[in-house]
Amino acid sequence: MGIVHIPIHTMSDTHEPSMETIISLAKRRGFVFPGSEIYGGLAGTYDYGPLGVALKNNLRNLWWRIFVESRDDMYGVDAAILMNPKVWEASGHVTGFSDPLIECKKCKHRFRADQVKTKPKKDKEDNLVRDEEVWICEHCGSKNNMEEPQQFNMMFKTHAGASEDAMTVYLRPETAGGIFMNYKNIIDSVHPKFPFGIAQIGKAFRNEIAPRDFIFRLRELEQMEVEYFVRPDEWEQAFEQWRIMMHEYAQAIGIKDSTLHELEVLPKDRAHYSKRTIDFEFDYPFGRKELWGLAYRTDFDLSAHEKGSGVELKYLNEVTKEKFTPHVIEPSLGVDRTVLATLLSAYRQDEMGNEKRVYLAFPPIIAPIKAMVSPLLRNKPELVEKARSVYKDLKKVIPQIMWDDNGNIGKRYRRQDEIGTPFCITIDFDTLGEKPELKDTVTLRHRDTAQQERMSITNVISVVRDAIQGITSS
Ligand code: GAP
Repeated sequence: MGIVHIPIHTMSDTHEPSMETIISLAKRRGFVFPGSEIYGGLAGTYDYGPLGVALKNNLRNLWWRIFVESRDDMYGVDAAILMNPKVWEASGHVTGFSDPLIECKKCKHRFRADQVKTKPKKDKEDNLVRDEEVWICEHCGSKNNMEEPQQFNMMFKTHAGASEDAMTVYLRPETAGGIFMNYKNIIDSVHPKFPFGIAQIGKAFRNEIAPRDFIFRLRELEQMEVEYFVRPDEWEQAFEQWRIMMHEYAQAIGIKDSTLHELEVLPKDRAHYSKRTIDFEFDYPFGRKELWGLAYRTDFDLSAHEKGSGVELKYLNEVTKEKFTPHVIEPSLGVDRTVLATLLSAYRQDEMGNEKRVYLAFPPIIAPIKAMVSPLLRNKPELVEKARSVYKDLKKVIPQIMWDDNGNIGKRYRRQDEIGTPFCITIDFDTLGEKPELKDTVTLRHRDTAQQERMSITNVISVVRDAIQGITSS
């Protein structure tokens, strides 16, 4: 049963969407909403709706599958967000996790000093004054009217306990802290062979001076992190291994190589714990900026926690009796920036039947909804009954499917295109046996090409299942 070609369809164009387009689609279709919106929102916070949750789950699960389950040397943890504050004293975050802050003397607005807009200074004759710049307040426009920059610590503080002198604790600024706290637990409980890594996915909190660009710079964010413990002389090869794995993940979630760029971070710009960092930068509509990071954290953290806690954190090889402080390679991926990069990468616009069509070309493995099932006509009970039974059978095997019998079939297809559903399955009179040779067959429509195939219900189930397992693509 061959493929039905749709002659009115022109091939997809990789239209680059603006941030406004993505933000509006994300809100309209239930991916991402501004946080506490009816109260005017809260800067740096966003809520994920039904499709956003499904997309995030798929991105996390695939990350876990690639970074943890595909290997024999990885162990998962889910550490508490609140930790003893000594953790952050030892790690250097209490003194060093800060951004330079600058305040406008006139309007008192505060900015990140490294992001304040400047203009070259000119004299009365309009000649450039060498090495001098004019600082302009983005809020009130006043010029060269700023306080001296000061360091602003970005950790959120709260209190643990009900007493007057309750302990000040921090909301973790990176999930890594919880991983280091469990290094000894993993050694003592699982007895891993060396080298090995610990992975964690979870929320982190940063009181960013200037949250911006939708879900790019948030105050409440989510990270997928690995701390991989190696012998000191093996860090370079491990660094390379994880670098390649990050590219594999990017490819699997539909981020094109041409939009992903490695930036070797200069020593002066690296975090206090890192001796080498590569930023994986992505071409966002607002410029080329960091998506993920890969750092060589040396033995900075384990040594600092050994000193801070007084508990030995060296690794002892029981066979050779060799003892050393492991060094650490850390691939760190923000979930929210990954969501943003996948939405931007998937966005497509083309023309069908002289009408503009928008679709999200998600790889099936991360698509929030894998397939939509629909009766050709909603007012024919026999079609609806058969479609319901196909839907029920498919849902047992593939839970992420949707029922839609609203409006005409063309409109249903467009709605699914816009949320990135790779397959639409339609039950028509041939399914019921109007043409006996086509009984129990359905049409399977492919999102990207809009081509339709006729096939048996059993075959549909295996085509959809294979596609979401990455065996074939739509
Ligand atoms: N443990 C290492 C670490 O936290 P980082 O470069 O500060 O390193 C890692 O953060 C990743 O977390 C970034 O590459 C980005 O994906 C994400 N991230 C960091 N700050 C963020 C923010 N304010 N909003 C959203 N994502 C953020």
